[in-house]
Amino acid sequence: MSQKLQPVRGTHDILPTDALKRRFIAETAREVGMLYGYEELATPVFEFTKVFSRSLGETSDVVTKEMYTFTDRGGDMITLRPEFTAGVVRALISNGLTQQLPARFFSTGPLFRYERPQKGRMRQFHQFNFELLGQAEPETDVEVLALAQHILTELGLKDDVILELNSLGDEESRRRYRDELVNYFTRYQNDLSEDSRHRLEKNPLRILDSKDENDRKLVAGAPQVEEAFTEEATAFFATVREGLERLGIAYKINPRLVRGLDYYNHTVFEFTTDKLGAQNAVLSGGRYDGLVAMLGGPAIPGIGFAAGIERLAELVEKTLAIPRPVAIVPLDEAYVLDALEIAQTLRRQGIRAELIRGGNVGKRMKKADKMNAKAAIILGEEELATSKVMLKDLGSGEQKPVPLNDLVRELKE
Ligand code: HAM
Repeated sequence: MSQKLQPVRGTHDILPTDALKRRFIAETAREVGMLYGYEELATPVFEFTKVFSRSLGETSDVVTKEMYTFTDRGGDMITLRPEFTAGVVRALISNGLTQQLPARFFSTGPLFRYERPQKGRMRQFHQFNFELLGQAEPETDVEVLALAQHILTELGLKDDVILELNSLGDEESRRRYRDELVNYFTRYQNDLSEDSRHRLEKNPLRILDSKDENDRKLVAGAPQVEEAFTEEATAFFATVREGLERLGIAYKINPRLVRGLDYYNHTVFEFTTDKLGAQNAVLSGGRYDGLVAMLGGPAIPGIGFAAGIERLAELVEKTLAIPRPVAIVPLDEAYVLDALEIAQTLRRQGIRAELIRGGNVGKRMKKADKMNAKAAIILGEEELATSKVMLKDLGSGEQKPVPLNDLVRELKE
């Protein structure tokens, strides 16, 4: 019994200071998103397993190794969401929202992946997530990237991140590219890692993402996705790049950026930083034109992105500002109920108030300073007898008696 209870590996408690920063991050995203027409959608934390297994790709790491899946008491196969996109698309279909397009959704909350925990990689983590459904044009991709960059700028991270951009082309391009990759990697089949040999059959694109050192050498000589582009795919990507240039959004083409989930086509992107070590992607996403149909809905195009709130919290310096409190200090235990009454009056008027007890008067005043109170309201016998309190400005140290009736007005000034 002596062993201390710990949270499960890869999960963390969010302590108050950290919670404020995370709220600042999510609220900033929500507010900027509002300027672009996004509304909040909250989907359940768990879904039927097939929502994810069908959409993220049978061979993706997330589906093969990382899902928290269980059979519930009714015998249904359930998975804790490893990402938002599939659930948002499921919700679009379930709620018949496919009739009101385009649809723009913002979501935020916890996600679950059974990954090997390390700095910036948890088993329960949090994202803010944006999805835009029903617009297929490349200018939409530009607008979505502008939103992502706008949020990162508001968070004060403009100079800490770079936008890495790639295109996977349309379906036809992807088919062609797949064939080229199969041709190329089959030649080196015996040199590939076991994982990648498996990927070669199921999804050769995944090999480009391999972390195996030997695989990476082979990947360096592999054909580039652009070589397999159809004319349409080339034109689409050119428009995206032109749009980014027009809006002054800097980017770097990364031809090896393929993303870890299978639903993407055309534009894929990651905002990365060199300040976080190996887990360097803070915000990532792309276009997924086939996903709604894959989950049983009509052919509706989509694009979106998600940002890891833990990773952003490591970089962001600003935090949510909360008002400084007013400390209420009764000079004697006999005045505690008077103090409580005053505290309630202030709180009802929207003033943050905290009662200070314990220790002698000197200790109480020290506590008031320590909690960064802007003022102290001191309750002594003399003042209370005349329905007054002593109001002390903890910045200047000045103090004066104030009638109880004037207290709220004084404090608001
Ligand atoms: P993702 O790249 O898997 O994409 O995750 C997006 C972001 O979530 C990453 O860039 C990273 O910042 C953060 N993240 C992912 N896994 C972890 C983890 N284990 N611990 C901490 N942070 C993590 C998606 O989830 C897609 N659904 C994004 C999207 C939206 N695509 C289209 N729409």
